[in-house]
Amino acid sequence: MNNKVVAALPLLLALAPSLAMAESASDNYHTYCIQCHGMRGDGMGVNIRDMSVQPRDHTDAKAMGGRSDDEIFKVIKEGGLSISKSVLMPPWGSTFTDNEIHDLVKYLRTLCKCKHGG
Ligand code: HEC
Repeated sequence: MNNKVVAALPLLLALAPSLAMAESASDNYHTYCIQCHGMRGDGMGVNIRDMSVQPRDHTDAKAMGGRSDDEIFKVIKEGGLSISKSVLMPPWGSTFTDNEIHDLVKYLRTLCKCKHGG
């Protein structure tokens, strides 16, 4: 290894966990959520024609900004009913660990480019 590579190593190692996180939350979203919430998270998934309640547009900064991270965590883990929303939003608590759900919350914040309260 030359000196430049050695110098870059600590930086790469420091970045790796956060890159891995971003990637797996995005993978999970694309595996489990897009059939309803859409490829771009805009609520236009392939299922929506037959759904009586339409999935949330996750790119809607106004709607998503009105929710705290805790509420988003809860609705992913326990399903729509847990926050008085439709049962058509399934609970994912047996699919994901709490850490994976926290990562999904962070991923949703990148889709809406918003945080709670604005
Ligand atoms: C079977 C369809 C379906 C799938 C799959 C699905 N959702 Fe949903 N989701 C919905 C529907 C419908 C709503 C809206 C419920 C309502 O407005 O009453 C919703 C609402 C939500 C909300 C609440 C937004 C808000 O504040 O109103 C979040 C967050 C969410 N979904 C995240 C996810 C995530 C993350 C996944 C993947 C792990 C996922 N959903 C998979 C149907 C789905």
